[in-house]
Amino acid sequence: MQNPAKRVVPFLPMGGIFDQEDARAAQSVLEQACGETGNFFPLPEENQFQEALARHEGAAKAVAVNSCGTALDLCMMALGIKPGDEVITTPLTFVCTAGTAVGQGAQVVFADIDPVTMNLDPKSARERITPRTKAVIPVHFTGLAADIDAFDALSRESGVPIIYDAAHAVGCKHKGKPIGGLGKGSCYSFQSNKNMTCLGEGGAVTSNDPAFAEIVRQKKTFGYVYGAQLRVVSIGFNYRMTKPQYAVGLTQLAKIDRVIAMRQKAMVRMNELLRGVEEILLPAGHGPEHGSHLYVIRLNTDKVSFVREAFTKRLKEEYGVATAIHYPAVWSWEAFAGLGYSEKKARCPLAAKACKQVVSLPIFPRTTDADCEYIAWALKQTLADLKKG
Ligand SMILES: Cc1ncc(COP(=O)(O)O)c(C=O)c1O
Repeated sequence: MQNPAKRVVPFLPMGGIFDQEDARAAQSVLEQACGETGNFFPLPEENQFQEALARHEGAAKAVAVNSCGTALDLCMMALGIKPGDEVITTPLTFVCTAGTAVGQGAQVVFADIDPVTMNLDPKSARERITPRTKAVIPVHFTGLAADIDAFDALSRESGVPIIYDAAHAVGCKHKGKPIGGLGKGSCYSFQSNKNMTCLGEGGAVTSNDPAFAEIVRQKKTFGYVYGAQLRVVSIGFNYRMTKPQYAVGLTQLAKIDRVIAMRQKAMVRMNELLRGVEEILLPAGHGPEHGSHLYVIRLNTDKVSFVREAFTKRLKEEYGVATAIHYPAVWSWEAFAGLGYSEKKARCPLAAKACKQVVSLPIFPRTTDADCEYIAWALKQTLADLKKG
């Protein structure tokens, strides 16, 4: 590519496509509520959305909630996680994957990642199981399925349930099948920057275990069991979405495969354009099964003499390409450091290294081939500039 004109390539706050169809779905709910008998009680949209999501994600049940954070919390509660218990997860994740265990008074035990996929390594997780381990939470990081077969085996042999953090993974596949029925439960996010959104927030737990899904459902709504007489059978909360959110969830879900295919195409193209650049490591697994939420390269710090922040700063300031970091290691947040978590104690050298190398490039559904070419060109120029010093 000849030196192109400088562009501004933002890291967008919306990861999917929100269009007139979604706006009309929300509008229709609002208009129905205008009459004297109008209301915002969530049926029938809540059930319709849950059924559509369960179908799409290949699960027997889906319970829609107001975020992935609350989905994880409900799973922890449904498993009865309590003080003294241990929950194993990856350090390369959003803070709440670990925070959900701390919220129940449990101890987080970090296990290392696979250096190629950047997903939680089942061998490392297995080594860290103790009699106190009550759950393992692998993340389908960036939308790439975790090592499902190994986690199935680990759960069968140890009896420890697996809760998947599927915040990035709506539409992700494993051996041709959706991932929503795997493990004990899977937790999805429909927050604004995910591949689909329910008006900015939203989440769900999916499961193939109806008894587990029922506990999650009860705790989502005050512990209610409906019948001839309303009963309160456990301590529960209010983690519901609103009626317009369920309505928009339905229209978002109807286009999710198309949105993911658009993201996938751009990510596969980025891999082609960046192959052979020795200063970076390319993400694994981009192809038809990938949920394609994030495109995360790693700066190969063994081969370059500058730090990541110099790279991202120059890429943005000189070439207009914004990036994001997914993620700093969980232990590096002050709240976790304050609880005594640290890189040294976690003993996860591969994750510790990756967390300092990761850079997410701005790939979205409408990213064109020309955008990919510009981003790749800008990235190579930045590396060349920094090498010159
Ligand atoms: C891996 C992961 N888990 C959980 C969450 C939390 O999702 P939510 O914002 O819906 O609570 C996020 C959000 O970015 C995430 O990336």
